[in-house]
Amino acid sequence: MRWSSPPGTRKAETLFDREKKGERALLVLPQGRAVADPERRGSEFADLARSAGAQVIEVIEARVDAPSPRYYIGSGKAAMIAERVKALDADLVLVDHTLSPVQERNLEKLVCARVVDRTGLILDIFALRARSHEGKLEVELAQLKHLATRLVRGWTHLERQRGGIGLRGPGETQLETDRRLLGERVKLLNRRIERVQIQRDQQRRARLRAILPRVALVGYTNAGKSTLFNALTASTVYVADQLFATLDPTVRRIDGLTSGPAVVADTVGFVRELPHDLVAAFRATLAEARDADLLLHVIDASDPERDRLIEVVDAVLDEIGAGAVPQLRVFNKIDLAGREPALERDGSGRIERVWVSAARNAGIDGLRQALAERLGGSRVRGELRLPAAAGRLHARLRALGVLSAERFEEDGWHLDVDAPRGLLEPLLGDGGGESAPLRALLAAAE
Ligand code: GTP
Repeated sequence: MRWSSPPGTRKAETLFDREKKGERALLVLPQGRAVADPERRGSEFADLARSAGAQVIEVIEARVDAPSPRYYIGSGKAAMIAERVKALDADLVLVDHTLSPVQERNLEKLVCARVVDRTGLILDIFALRARSHEGKLEVELAQLKHLATRLVRGWTHLERQRGGIGLRGPGETQLETDRRLLGERVKLLNRRIERVQIQRDQQRRARLRAILPRVALVGYTNAGKSTLFNALTASTVYVADQLFATLDPTVRRIDGLTSGPAVVADTVGFVRELPHDLVAAFRATLAEARDADLLLHVIDASDPERDRLIEVVDAVLDEIGAGAVPQLRVFNKIDLAGREPALERDGSGRIERVWVSAARNAGIDGLRQALAERLGGSRVRGELRLPAAAGRLHARLRALGVLSAERFEEDGWHLDVDAPRGLLEPLLGDGGGESAPLRALLAAAE
């Protein structure tokens, strides 16, 4: 396991000055009174551990009614874990909860093995999976923030990278130097991330100008988003039977829909109780979801817990401001669920659910039909008449590149508009009296 040497985070690796450990992991599942479905949570955590490359050698449940400040779990249980670590020759203890730095350190001392909490584990997986420059920077930043509170020594080799001399102020303790160096690295990362984000925004605007409707694939991790992305775009992105195979959004064009071309973005898999620091590492994905005209919410139809996972994903979408983006639910893995491909409509005839198997390429035509129907509705085409005085709105429509033709006649401008609804709606807000004809066009296209 590469706890300290994930690819793409080489700086974090040099900061992480702990001894590398092997791969034999002992899992600890703390369980409070109100833990719903401990079994499922246990298997999810084991999957996470395996995703990071660990070999799970034992799983220990620990009842926690009142968390202990010392170890989080009770001291009797902690002592028992220490014994098991010794007996099984385990290298790592993974705890399915967030631990305070003190708890983590106390536990490490007691069990004589490396202890990693849930946040640390998810960070590690993110570090392994990050592919884009932005994703890597964000993961490193999240890792540093997480480590900053945990490591009080072991940063000073940074001085060598930075030249060292003159860095350490007179009378400054080792610890103060460490903190200052860490703070500088965090500042540097923040600046770089800002730069990358500006570039990304520019790219997104360029895409907007191309006025293709945007679709984002979202879903609980391992639901099959990347496989479906491949099936839809007939391309090959990295697919792995591991959690979080995708960290950074990949955007591809999708052709052959009767509604015209669209772009589709694959996003990171969602997970329950995503540590808050990590939400920043999701930024690129979140922007894709929030700006989409349609979300394809991919669900593992064969998962007995699927209804609860749907709720988890919807809750995350709400949290990131994408709760109001229209959704099409795609129930994937029907081959495992024993179902046939199907389209389901709601009371008003709108396609709401699609049943497919991305891996078997079953139901993909139906999904394309559903996409065309749903996206077709979100596109506005028609003639817009604007008085000559509506110069500002006219200029903004031009700038968006949504006018396929325009001519001036006695009664003013006649503009042929062809654009996703989502692009036009924001223009209503600040157009004042000018926006009335646009409002009428949008209403007519409903
Ligand atoms: P994250 O990146 O972790 O969020 O995963 P993801 O949602 O992108 O899932 P991915 O496409 O990587 O698929 C996860 C696993 O499910 C892989 O082993 C796929 O081969 C498998 N899978 C995807 N679709 C199907 C399907 O229709 N049937 C079956 N049986 N397996 C599938």
